[in-house]
Amino acid sequence: MKSRHREVQPERSTGAPFLRRVISLPEKFDRTRHPFNIRAFSHGIDLALRTKVTFFVGENGSGKSTLLEALAECCGFHPEGGNRDHHRETFADRSDLAQTLRLSWMPKTTEGFFMRAESFYNFASYIDRVSNLRAYGGKSLHGQSHGEAFLALFANRFEQGLYILDEPEAALSPQRQLSFLKIIHDLEAPGHAQFLISTHSPIILGYPDATIFSLDDDTIRETAYRETEHFLLTRDFLNSPERYFRHLFDTQEDEVRRS
Ligand SMILES: Nc1ncnc2c1ncn2[C@@H]1O[C@H](COP(=O)(O)OP(=O)(O)O)[C@@H](O)[C@H]1O
Ligand SMILES: [Mg+2]
Repeated sequence: MKSRHREVQPERSTGAPFLRRVISLPEKFDRTRHPFNIRAFSHGIDLALRTKVTFFVGENGSGKSTLLEALAECCGFHPEGGNRDHHRETFADRSDLAQTLRLSWMPKTTEGFFMRAESFYNFASYIDRVSNLRAYGGKSLHGQSHGEAFLALFANRFEQGLYILDEPEAALSPQRQLSFLKIIHDLEAPGHAQFLISTHSPIILGYPDATIFSLDDDTIRETAYRETEHFLLTRDFLNSPERYFRHLFDTQEDEVRRS
């Protein structure tokens, strides 16, 4: 007999996080070549994105940019920063990593933005050419300081979608990093936006209820804010810079003396 009850549908989300999971397919997996010779990717990639803000941390060269660029590429975002409207064929070929990644969305969004800190200048030029400057406080982005322009861009232009940001702190003073976190909060709290951010900043990394993935091991591993080197080292340093330097310089002098 057919049930009189309607089938219970799984609850459908209408807001962020949009991108829920990223996996690498085992085909093409070659641990001897880039990108799978990067230690953090050496067992493949399987990321569950449960929160609206996700951070990626890791030493220089640990693979943060490689991962974020591949994700941006899979989303169809311009690699030098921008959304789908800003077409320029800078990704000559799909990167090896992008070719192996599969993304799961709920719900799917095509809105969004990718920004590398070092490519901000190019992106500012583009925005200056095509946009209504009133949207940025009536000033050319180049007429503002790097940090002002960066914040103006976020505060005025972007509302809905997936934002992929590679080391955004480069442009920002500590005070502006806090302003940046307020902008993130205003976008993500109502479910409008999802952020994937690589950062070395212990301030940005402190954003509440975010997921932090570390690329410093042989797999991408979730970690807690207070367990990151960014938090621990900064805290210890600020507690006593003198003690820190004494230890650092003495150790190095010992090594020099021994060699
Ligand atoms: N196209 C490439 N071919 C080979 N190796 C690369 C390529 N791009 C980056 N790498 C290497 O991959 C590693 C990770 O780089 P990257 O993703 O830029 O690290 P991060 O952003 O964490 O500093 C580095 O060792 C880098 O030299
Ligand atoms: Mg990088």
